[in-house]
Amino acid sequence: MQINEEQKETLIQAAMAVRHWAYVPYSHYPVGAAILTTSGKIYDGINVESAAFPTTMCAERVAIYKAVSEGERDFVAIAVVTDNAGSPCGGCRQVMAEFGLETIVLIADGEGKISQETTVSGLLPGAFTPKDLPSL
Ligand code: THU
Repeated sequence: MQINEEQKETLIQAAMAVRHWAYVPYSHYPVGAAILTTSGKIYDGINVESAAFPTTMCAERVAIYKAVSEGERDFVAIAVVTDNAGSPCGGCRQVMAEFGLETIVLIADGEGKISQETTVSGLLPGAFTPKDLPSL
């Protein structure tokens, strides 16, 4: 599914708006994310770090899990905002792939300027997806 420029801007603004909530006492690298569902809702997320470092959770996954926990599984696009327009990590790419390879991914910097517009399949070619599991 495509999105127009206004929807892109709305999604990026949603990711930017929550970024200040990021809990980043260790990395000082706040990430904001926002995901648009096919039903037109937007769920946002920020990264939440932990003194037990591996239990840190990324912003993208927070946004996706918030959406899924409210019954949403069909996504149009996800925006990710960081100061330097950093790319989503491998774990987040895998979780995005679970819900669709065609989801649009917008990567923007701290001013909301899009540096890359791609899809989940563009970020994770050859992804292992639910289709790869033998039917039970
Ligand atoms: N982080 C995200 O929130 N999303 C990503 O895709 C990459 C990394 C977070 C995790 C950690 O809190 C900080 O950025 C530095 O790795």
